[in-house]
Amino acid sequence: MDKKDLNYNKINKMYGYMKHNMPVDTFMEKFGFNEKEVYGLVEICKSFGKKIELVYDGKVLVFSKNKKIMPSTSKLPVDSEKLNHIELCVISDTHLGNNHQQLHLLNNVYEEAYNRGIRTVLHAGDLSDGNYTNRPESYYEQFIHGFDEHADYIIEWYPKVDGIKTLFISGNHDFTNNRNNGATLGKWISEKRDDLEYLGQDNHTVVINKVKIMLDHPGGGSAKSISYKLQQKIEGMESTHKPNALITGHYHKSYYMLYNNVHALLAPALCDYTPFQKRMGLSNDLGAYFIDIYADKNGRIQYFEPEEIRFDRKDVWDEVGKDKRKVKKLEIKNGVY
Ligand SMILES: [Fe+2]
Ligand SMILES: [Fe+2]
Repeated sequence: MDKKDLNYNKINKMYGYMKHNMPVDTFMEKFGFNEKEVYGLVEICKSFGKKIELVYDGKVLVFSKNKKIMPSTSKLPVDSEKLNHIELCVISDTHLGNNHQQLHLLNNVYEEAYNRGIRTVLHAGDLSDGNYTNRPESYYEQFIHGFDEHADYIIEWYPKVDGIKTLFISGNHDFTNNRNNGATLGKWISEKRDDLEYLGQDNHTVVINKVKIMLDHPGGGSAKSISYKLQQKIEGMESTHKPNALITGHYHKSYYMLYNNVHALLAPALCDYTPFQKRMGLSNDLGAYFIDIYADKNGRIQYFEPEEIRFDRKDVWDEVGKDKRKVKKLEIKNGVY
């Protein structure tokens, strides 16, 4: 394969098919690759910054992924068939309505989730760019304004994929509508779209097969250290309310750690740098996560694999407003696009 014909999206797709601990033989059979081509593919993935290796597990050649960030539970438990398997896609901070939104990348993530057979997407808030009346300049950084235009845009343009349900909380940007008009954007969107379920403002815990997953959008300023806010949050939790996993939006940062037995994830943004972030000197991680969880019947996580999808500059449509003019609506019904 010629590297110039490849883009990050294609690489993400192939990288996603190469599962951690999957025997290379299984992959070759499934996709018609020979061993030499698999070695080549792994090298290409590495050149795009992916953490993947081919290693021998006994006599079997397998893929080994994300070595650095895997916790002690990195081996799939032997009795995995007795465990509940949960596959999720995690996204956050889409800021729809901002000139720097990246709806085509959001569509790309949903298409990938669909290809993987994922049924649940968790969104950790700031679905919309909202309306900060105390930041007059923000008006000029948006192509839609106010509650109705944001609601109509999201109802019409948010990816709609057969079989995929998106569970979302609201963030501080969405909350501006409550502050300005007492109107809850998430509630309104949820009533108009069956596939988008509003969970609440800022924080809500969803329970999937007894696994408690807390979605959090804390608001406030950025942290000095990327893990500090997560640690603080987990330390402040009462043991009875401690979730099995914590997914935090708002910081536009990507990070994973296992802390006090909570699998904690900072969800990256699916929006490019906004002028506000630039003015504040804030960095912006652009991407999403696909998560594989195996949990016992009491919801205790036995295996957690966060697969990070990161986009970079060449994937971004940075000409202001291009996304709103040129993006194609993603709607998949009965397998038809
Ligand atoms: Fe945000
Ligand atoms: Fe936020």
